[in-house]
Amino acid sequence: MESLGIGLIGTGYMGKCHALAWNAVAAVFGDVPRPRLAVLAEVSQALAETKVRELGFERATGDWRSLVNDPVVDVVSITTPNAFHPEMAIAALEAGKHVWCEKPMAVRLADAERMLAAARVSGKVGALGYNYIQNPLIGLMRRVIDEGQIGAVNHVRIEMDEDFMADPEELFYWKSEATSGHGALDDFGVHALSLLWVLFGGVARVCGHMTKPYADRPVKGGGRRAVETCDIATTMLELENGASGVICLNRSAWGRKGRIFVQIFGSKGTLIYDQERMNEVQLYIAEGPKETQGFRTILTAPHHPPYDKFLPAPGHGLGFNELKIIECRQLIGRIGGEKGTLIDFEDGIRIERTVDAIARSAHEGRWIEVAASVTEAAA
Ligand SMILES: NC(=O)c1ccc[n+]([C@@H]2O[C@H](COP(=O)([O-])OP(=O)(O)OC[C@H]3O[C@@H](n4cnc5c(N)ncnc54)[C@H](O)[C@@H]3O)[C@@H](O)[C@H]2O)c1
Repeated sequence: MESLGIGLIGTGYMGKCHALAWNAVAAVFGDVPRPRLAVLAEVSQALAETKVRELGFERATGDWRSLVNDPVVDVVSITTPNAFHPEMAIAALEAGKHVWCEKPMAVRLADAERMLAAARVSGKVGALGYNYIQNPLIGLMRRVIDEGQIGAVNHVRIEMDEDFMADPEELFYWKSEATSGHGALDDFGVHALSLLWVLFGGVARVCGHMTKPYADRPVKGGGRRAVETCDIATTMLELENGASGVICLNRSAWGRKGRIFVQIFGSKGTLIYDQERMNEVQLYIAEGPKETQGFRTILTAPHHPPYDKFLPAPGHGLGFNELKIIECRQLIGRIGGEKGTLIDFEDGIRIERTVDAIARSAHEGRWIEVAASVTEAAA
């Protein structure tokens, strides 16, 4: 495979994370050509030039359209706010580039469907930033489930909590605007759905409930503005494999910083994982003498690939940014024809349909089949 030319749009929280991944992927994995960090785009030329120096790119631009049309760019990393994803991803695909777009795919299902259609027409890879699925321990959990070690899975519960919207006196900003989406559900609940997708496959039907813990928030300069999104979302669901599930999402949960607490219950045992303790998994198998049965803690180690690409010693731990490096390696592999573990636009649309079904269910107060969440354009 030839070295890929990289274009990065946006250099905030996720932009830096993508840049670190592009910088590190060849050194960590040793089996792919070093990408060429070609062009970086920001809202202004001045900001782009500062970031080019920091993040190691060759050229800066204040115009993202020139980046997606630049012949030296093969892959476009899109790390801008959610509302920009469709326009930027479709323009990049139409210019013949592969796309690595941050989650969620889009704010509206119809726009996500347009993104998928553009990827199909272009024949290029459209990949999404669902980094949590890349944890080597999530891979271990999938193997434990697939091998039947905890028996037939009958129930899954995921709680995802953070506290960045917990303070009622925090200033109103774009995450409280309806233009950003439904709220906790699509802002970060899609990560919980990405875990369900890689561990079990699709969701068949949902019953959602969404609430606003605070009716309004202070506005810079004085006064208050009504909150338009829901910071709390709870969903009962049925997986396509028949197991039942619950997803509880709260971005106003004081004290919770990055919790994704997953409990998987089977006929022979239980698996427990928490993203706040991302280097360990708890496994209970109901066998052996009852008096010594109990959960055991498994720490990440070189025999949980690709942990071995980072560290030769067990129990030393990976971090959030390293999940993005693994995702980057999966993307390069997919461009080269490998299957790997990656949520592309084909899989991503299933997550977007599930989000749409949960939101409609919450508004209509009834169970909804996910398969019915298809817009007329895509039907
Ligand atoms: N995968 C994850 O775990 C994860 C975590 C956080 C955020 N995200 C996603 O990443 C995306 C970005 O979120 P963030 O927290 O990094 O936001 P951010 O505000 O930190 O960064 C966004 C950047 O985009 C730039 N930008 C905005 N409009 C632009 C334009 N027209 N041209 C060029 N640059 C532009 C901004 O200047 C800013 O630097 C969102 O879609 C979010 O949902 C994913």
